[in-house]
Amino acid sequence: MEKNFIRLTWALTLSVGLAACQAPQNNLVFEHQGDTLTLLHIEKAPKYLILPIQESCNEGQVKLVTGSPADVAMDIRLAVDSVEYYVPFELPEGERATVAIARVGEKAVCWEHIQLADTFDTRNTDYYRPEYHHTPLFGWMNDANGLVYKDGEYHLYYQYNPYGSKWGNMHWGHSVSRDLIHWQHLKPAIARDTLGHIFSGSTVVDHLNSAGYGEDALVAFYTSASDAHGQIQCMAYSKDNGRTYTKYEKNPILTPFDGLKDFRDPKVFWYEPAKKWYMIVSADKNMRFYSSDDMKEWTYLSQFGEGYGVQPNQFECPDFIQLPVDGDTSRMKWVMIVNINPGCMFGGSATEYFVGDFDGKTFRCDTKPNVTKWLDYGKDHYATVCFSNTAGRTIAVPWMSNWQYANITPIRQYRGANALPRELSLYTKDGEIYVAADAVKETESLRQKTKKVENLAVKGEYQVEHLTDGVKSGVELEMDITPASAQTVGFDLMNGKGEKARIYLDMKAGRIVMDRTESGITDLPKWGNNKGSYDVHVKETDEHRKTLSVNYQNDFALGTWAPLSLCEGQTYHLHVFVDKCSVEIFVDGGRIAMTNLVFPTEVYDSLRFFTEGGEAQVENLTIYQLGL
Ligand code: FRU
Repeated sequence: MEKNFIRLTWALTLSVGLAACQAPQNNLVFEHQGDTLTLLHIEKAPKYLILPIQESCNEGQVKLVTGSPADVAMDIRLAVDSVEYYVPFELPEGERATVAIARVGEKAVCWEHIQLADTFDTRNTDYYRPEYHHTPLFGWMNDANGLVYKDGEYHLYYQYNPYGSKWGNMHWGHSVSRDLIHWQHLKPAIARDTLGHIFSGSTVVDHLNSAGYGEDALVAFYTSASDAHGQIQCMAYSKDNGRTYTKYEKNPILTPFDGLKDFRDPKVFWYEPAKKWYMIVSADKNMRFYSSDDMKEWTYLSQFGEGYGVQPNQFECPDFIQLPVDGDTSRMKWVMIVNINPGCMFGGSATEYFVGDFDGKTFRCDTKPNVTKWLDYGKDHYATVCFSNTAGRTIAVPWMSNWQYANITPIRQYRGANALPRELSLYTKDGEIYVAADAVKETESLRQKTKKVENLAVKGEYQVEHLTDGVKSGVELEMDITPASAQTVGFDLMNGKGEKARIYLDMKAGRIVMDRTESGITDLPKWGNNKGSYDVHVKETDEHRKTLSVNYQNDFALGTWAPLSLCEGQTYHLHVFVDKCSVEIFVDGGRIAMTNLVFPTEVYDSLRFFTEGGEAQVENLTIYQLGL
């Protein structure tokens, strides 16, 4: 079977009528009950009902009616005027089925296009699908969830909407990999249910059988979110290596003691000194700690956060990891990873962290509350959390987008990708401890062709052609830049249309900058037939953003920057990964990481170096063409 392609044999049902209660046509009967409810009767169900989507439509509600109290309606943007793409809705194969569709008018075009099928074609139809970054085959993806390593497999669960490429119907989607690079897509592992959406969370290997589901069972923790029940922490376990999960029958396992509205994204870890399980949960502008012996009863310990870092922002998706300082295992420090939305230096969502100590009850941060440290200095790095059970390594996986525009990127069949997995470590600079986030070494397996360029003394401009073959976009660059007498030195990743992602060291400002103002499509709300707008928060005034980013034009068209003071100076080692719609920069082994989306309308196929105000050296320039 071809990769990414579930055998295609569309059902014969090409059109279905509109009149109320028709005679059966190819096994599918529509019963319109007024303008707000339609029942679909299927005599002998194939695998799927294929549903036509139009993203600008309101959500209709689609429910498989079995009569069980567990029946849940999914929110689906069924096409009213024109069809943009299709999604599959699973049916009980071989059985008689009834599907109720509410809130979709009788005149909507979807009724003409709904079909029955045994297969669903998942071959790529998006120009901007990355060549080597993980994406779902179809549907929407945000945060990485439940990252866990077991028996040679990395499990990447993720916030997933299988019913459209906008946020909604949160499930845990699922992919597995043996090398963090090649991912196999599996069926969603945890589906939205009557307690609500399945929000973000974590998974652990229960080595000691604390929860009673067997030694080495996988136990997942997530937030159920709904208007009716609020945000409550739930648990599920898997005894088949993470393929399927059974929800704990007495969920929820934890509710907020003070009725907090924002209480989510549980990260569970084993805390050896107390020989207990610990949970850290985002609680509005704090992170709360709990402990447990059996993973079911949780005791509140403390909270940390209010007033720390960028203020005042919603805390989300915590992680809590212990790392050696400068590789010295006799000096361990705790790092609290806090994803905030908004709060990014350049607008929208971003990941900050705090370094400190933990005594089993309370976290104490080394730095003053007003100190903010960033895990990544781009605009498209969010909800970053780490794998559990990866002894000796700490590997984080970011979601590569920003809530300001995640729903309106120029993509249709899927929306959302992960940035490259990063290995985290601690380094010291000027007496402060920072986290370095470097691309995992497994990325080397992507290298297909290598080109070494002789050392360059750049003054003015210098062009390297044939960065790629003009079709494939996967490129990795490594180089050592010594600015010497230049005030500015950098390069453009360019295409024949003059679109470019500009990366440069600004020695006067002491910054590395990535400017995407001319990178291709940069006015996202105007792309295609989007009816979107940037999600701008009140506190992020234009003034605020203009001063913080470089060359601000809109919330996508801008430059992001990081302080070069994090590096040792003189010579900077740049490591850059380019894919169809992203650029990731790692400086000096991840002391600076910067992740940004770009939407060039042709592949960047050349590299143009430039300097201003003097001469710079570019040494050890190596260009790798990448592919899976
Ligand atoms: C972060 C987040 C989480 C939440 C999830 C919902 O991006 O808002 O806090 O669990 O997304 O999809």
